[in-house]
Amino acid sequence: MTDDLAPVTAEALRERMRSAPVLAGPLPAFDPAAAGPEPGPLFARWLAYALDDGVPEPHAMTLSTAGADGRPSARVLMLRGVDLGLPAFHFASDAASRKGRDLADRPYAALSWYWPRHGRQIRVTGPVEALDRSAARQDFLGRREVSRVAGFTGVTSAPLESRRAYEEARREAAEHVAAHPDDVPRGHTVYRLVADEAEFWQAAPAQDHVRLLYTRDPAAPGGWTRGLLWP
Ligand SMILES: Cc1cc2nc3c(=O)[nH]c(=O)nc-3n(C[C@H](O)[C@H](O)[C@H](O)COP(=O)(O)O)c2cc1C
Repeated sequence: MTDDLAPVTAEALRERMRSAPVLAGPLPAFDPAAAGPEPGPLFARWLAYALDDGVPEPHAMTLSTAGADGRPSARVLMLRGVDLGLPAFHFASDAASRKGRDLADRPYAALSWYWPRHGRQIRVTGPVEALDRSAARQDFLGRREVSRVAGFTGVTSAPLESRRAYEEARREAAEHVAAHPDDVPRGHTVYRLVADEAEFWQAAPAQDHVRLLYTRDPAAPGGWTRGLLWP
């Protein structure tokens, strides 16, 4: 299928969006009273269910950051791993990219997932740290060759003068990877966001949506407080 190049009016779009089904279900049930005292195991259960049930790319997530000027910016990334105990969420990117620069200025971010088939949204916020070079090395060298070549092609988010310049850089990157298969780009970085807040949102028929918020609280038994939010 190719993009249809015919012009589309705003009114036509509005009509089509109005009639497009949202949270159509059937939706899984979620009993917040039965959720555990910590958010990690619940995250694992929801992600595992999305993987089992064939939700497309359920490990794709939106990372939101803000730069020194406070301007927010968001983009989709792959979740590379989770420490369920904390919980902490790992992702990888180029430290010189916009998100990398944002995180160097303000090491705090939000992650969100949306799984339409299950009517589920998870939001997590917390401080972010860059892991050491050995984590970057392990992450990068575990990738397929095409991804390693991409990692050596230019600097993510820097202005690109032409597609021709890109093709040339990509050719050089392929040669570099073939000649130095153990090399890791200097900027390749694995980041870790340690959740200090995690919200689980479950859609329900008739808009009886359920929201469960975990907030890190060292004074609470188990280190977390739990509460419902109005949907
Ligand atoms: C499904 C999907 C997965 C992606 N995964 C990553 C990723 O794991 N790391 C990454 O740096 N960019 C990834 N990207 C590209 C980013 O969305 C983004 O375009 C890029 O990192 C530059 O973002 P920035 O300019 O805000 O730094 C992915 C994009 C999509 C659509």
